[in-house]
Amino acid sequence: MNRDQEKEKKMEEILSELRRDERVQSMKTFVQHGKVSTYEHCEHVMEMSYRIDRALHLHSDLDTLLKGAMLHDFFLYDWHSNDDGTHSLHGFTHAEKARENAEKYLKTNDRINHVIRSHMWPLNPERVPRSREAWIVCVADKLVSLHETLFRRRDREQGKKDC
Ligand SMILES: [Fe+2]
Ligand SMILES: [Fe+2]
Repeated sequence: MNRDQEKEKKMEEILSELRRDERVQSMKTFVQHGKVSTYEHCEHVMEMSYRIDRALHLHSDLDTLLKGAMLHDFFLYDWHSNDDGTHSLHGFTHAEKARENAEKYLKTNDRINHVIRSHMWPLNPERVPRSREAWIVCVADKLVSLHETLFRRRDREQGKKDC
């Protein structure tokens, strides 16, 4: 088995471990961007993180990188819901909530927790990514979010045309 195959296998192992958790599965019920669920968004960020690591030969710790990416938005609520204002600061608060849930329900270690809580830098300016894995996920999240947002806009424009 070559290095790429080993990485692919590792990614599958990590994903199948996380997929068994019902709270991870529940991310499928929350909307992230347009038609993309939080679960799909996290999968996209995980795949992008993996691609960045491989393309740039960064040799990250895959367990930290992939679990951190898959759990970076593990905040477990629909941030679009109208409520009493609890989610109005979502952009500033959700990384810490995701870290708290990951640690509580999946017993994540400090390195994974750091990836999760620093992914919203620079919006959370005090939480600067301090590891290779944290930087990769921070960048991958922004690339994926931009892509998903552009597609959402296109869906909306398409919907207007169809009306
Ligand atoms: Fe996020
Ligand atoms: Fe995200």
